[in-house]
Amino acid sequence: MLSGGDPVVGHIRDFSRDPCATMDRGARECGEVFRLNLFGNSIVVILGPEGNEAVFRAPEDVLSPKEAYRLMTPIFGAGIAYDAEPHIMDEQLAFLYPALSPARMKTYGQIMAEETEKYIANWGDSGEIDVLDMMNELTMYISSRCLLGPEFRGHLNREFADLYQALEGGLTPLAYFFPNLPVPKFKKRDKARLRLQSLLGGVISERRKREFRGDDFLQTLMEASYKDGRPLTENEITGLLLTIVFAGHHTSGTLAAWTAINLLQHPQYLSGVLSELDRVYGKNPKVTVESLKELDALERAIMEAERMYPPIVMMMRKVISEFKFGKYVFPKGTFIMVSPQVSQRLRRVFKDPNRYDPERFAPPRSEHKQHPFTMTSFGGGKHKCIGFQFAYMQIKTAWSIILRKFELELASHIYTPSYDFLIAGPHHPCLIKYRRR
Ligand code: HEM
Repeated sequence: MLSGGDPVVGHIRDFSRDPCATMDRGARECGEVFRLNLFGNSIVVILGPEGNEAVFRAPEDVLSPKEAYRLMTPIFGAGIAYDAEPHIMDEQLAFLYPALSPARMKTYGQIMAEETEKYIANWGDSGEIDVLDMMNELTMYISSRCLLGPEFRGHLNREFADLYQALEGGLTPLAYFFPNLPVPKFKKRDKARLRLQSLLGGVISERRKREFRGDDFLQTLMEASYKDGRPLTENEITGLLLTIVFAGHHTSGTLAAWTAINLLQHPQYLSGVLSELDRVYGKNPKVTVESLKELDALERAIMEAERMYPPIVMMMRKVISEFKFGKYVFPKGTFIMVSPQVSQRLRRVFKDPNRYDPERFAPPRSEHKQHPFTMTSFGGGKHKCIGFQFAYMQIKTAWSIILRKFELELASHIYTPSYDFLIAGPHHPCLIKYRRR
């Protein structure tokens, strides 16, 4: 057990202020397996690639992710995603796979480039911008067009943004433990969820009436049916769309922001990225799925931001039936936590782990390849993120366009992670200055 816990609330104060520093202290004090006390709940933290592998590869009837996502049930809806029985969740996620097929990704690539161009079209010759707000906004425009469909990027844009914000307002620490308390934020969240379902219902009937077929997730879900032939209800379609948008929005926006901040803090790597962009887009400036594949330096810059500042700093599971790891046996009911942020900075895994060094991923060093579970910012095993490529494509597209048109410079003094929200972005303000090239 980590030292220093309060007899009543345990380590919750330290943990809510900075969960990663608390876990890091645990690793230094106790090793890669230790316990924390959060509000009387005993949480076991397991770190390192071997621990990650044991947790992510454990079958669902041994370690269940469901408990960790209770706060999402009022947003996604009852019986949707993690709230569904595992075999139903499998079927629901399978509806989403075709929407991430290579052919679809090509169309998304074009949309991502168009949205980025549109976003910077109004920038003057120079100015200052909050890079996290900017990236969250841009990734929302991209998500609404690729995933929700043109209706939401068009006339429903403003209302959708407000409703989405009300849903996000329900993601408070209280929601982890009491997601249905009658407090104003939760009431607002529930009202927004109902309104969103009715808006989507309207879009679905309009599409059916006009026989319009979109190239988006919404269309995929409208045409999907369960193995027993039952089509999805409007509640299920709404819930699955929200699942995919929530999963991919702030996570991508945050990683995009950390990528730029780190590159600007380390000009020696930024210059490598800029020369690569000159080489790849020198003759043909058009961003395509193929050209993005040539951007190795940019890809490594994103990976290093992902290693040091993973947007999701921890993941939880609940032990359903006895779980063993090494010499430890964890009984039913134990909560297990893994942390990409802390594991990806272990000295025994990555050399000089607190140094931003994208070249650690290039051969022959390839530090991430020493074990399949060294990098877990996108999870691992059965529940590994299905949007990894989508996320990388958005980030690469955005920066490959913006960096070629504008010279950027940091405009805040410090850029440290904030743990106020579920996704760990830089503290506001995180300003950058831009100047047209
Ligand atoms: C930088 C961006 C992203 C990060 C860091 C990220 C991270 C993660 C992580 C850590 C998990 C596993 C959670 C767990 O096991 O407890 C996950 C799952 C998931 N992600 Fe992502 N994600 C990102 C972008 C996306 C995007 C763009 C989409 C969709 C287009 C997406 C869709 C999903 C879905 C549906 C799951 C659930 C998979 C399952 O449980 O089987 N993610 N993501």
